[in-house]
Amino acid sequence: MTEAILLVGGQGARLRPLTSHTPKPLLPVAGVPFLTHQLARAAAAGVTRVVFATSYRAEMFAAEFGDGSGLGLELDYVVEDEPLGTGGAIRGAAEKLRSKGNEPVLIFNGDILSDLDIAGLREGHRESGADVTLHLTRVPDPRAFGLVSTDADGRILDFLEKPDASGPIGAAQVNAGCYVFTRSVIDRIPPGRAVSVEREVFPELVASGAYLRGVLDGDYWLDLGTPAAFIQGSADLVRGRVDSPALPGPVGDALVLPGAQVDAGAVLSGGTVVGEGARVGVGAVIEGSVVLPGASVGAHADIRRSVLGRFAEVGSGSSLDSVVVGEKARIGADSELPSGIRIGCGVELPPGGVRMSAETAPCTARAFAPPAA
Ligand code: GTP
Repeated sequence: MTEAILLVGGQGARLRPLTSHTPKPLLPVAGVPFLTHQLARAAAAGVTRVVFATSYRAEMFAAEFGDGSGLGLELDYVVEDEPLGTGGAIRGAAEKLRSKGNEPVLIFNGDILSDLDIAGLREGHRESGADVTLHLTRVPDPRAFGLVSTDADGRILDFLEKPDASGPIGAAQVNAGCYVFTRSVIDRIPPGRAVSVEREVFPELVASGAYLRGVLDGDYWLDLGTPAAFIQGSADLVRGRVDSPALPGPVGDALVLPGAQVDAGAVLSGGTVVGEGARVGVGAVIEGSVVLPGASVGAHADIRRSVLGRFAEVGSGSSLDSVVVGEKARIGADSELPSGIRIGCGVELPPGGVRMSAETAPCTARAFAPPAA
């Protein structure tokens, strides 16, 4: 038996308004809830039982995955009334684990897409005798992450807060959001209160002399926390740049889910996904985008690097680049929206050639402008 904890209780604030009604790990990525990819990869690596640490919209996880038999897994759920942070969530979920003593337990953030060798990470942990093994990845710009320094043998020496955003900084290794804990080590996390695993648990373990080991592995790694990354992850799965046993169709330039209606005169490319029941009109061009179930794209619309929420509508002739359209929002015909804007759920923008700049966008749309970096 190999057990895992899946951390899925976050608010997904950076992905609003997509996460206004759906937790980030349940948003469709390449046609299925993102977690389906993660769970399928975990099952393929020999994980047999997963405890979900839920909080935000907790009930939606069990409604989607039930007892896990559809995925060949045994699933259990823990609900935090108040979010306990990543460390508190691990401590709380551990009460439902059956592993004991020095058995390894995998922990996954619910928003990471990677080609990590999960079984290799677990076996390396067992052989090394480490207290915790962390998957590390190198990113070209580590300013949004905490840095992890290791010695030549991979022993973790230090965790550094986010480097100063103003100064120049090169590629660096960062915490990749997947860990193996020796079961008994989880009990060292203080119970019943909010704790951050990155800022509190790991630095305190290192300070106490525990053996934390970092492993750089894999060629592909993406944190799907922002709209741009969410779109990229979906497109990369569709185009086969990263493998998933759960991809619901052949690898290709676009994925059209059953029940979607795409006019023969529309052009889909760049890993675009058109979800169940969505419609795309004649002459529309959609590149590298995610059209969620039930959304519609009018004739000759031009959509690039954007996400259309469930049942959102984009009028004919409209042009969107790097835009997030919330659920049931309606963009009138012949609109041209500024790059990077987010349109709130249910917002209606009038037809008739609206040319919005960030200044003239209605405040409901501006409210979802991306947070400053
Ligand atoms: P943002 O709000 O956009 O930062 O996203 P997030 O809420 O997902 O936070 P973050 O990306 O830092 O979280 C990393 C992982 O931990 C995600 O899979 C979250 O669902 C999960 N997570 C974060 N905070 C909590 C928490 O308090 N409880 C639980 N159970 N999971 C959490």
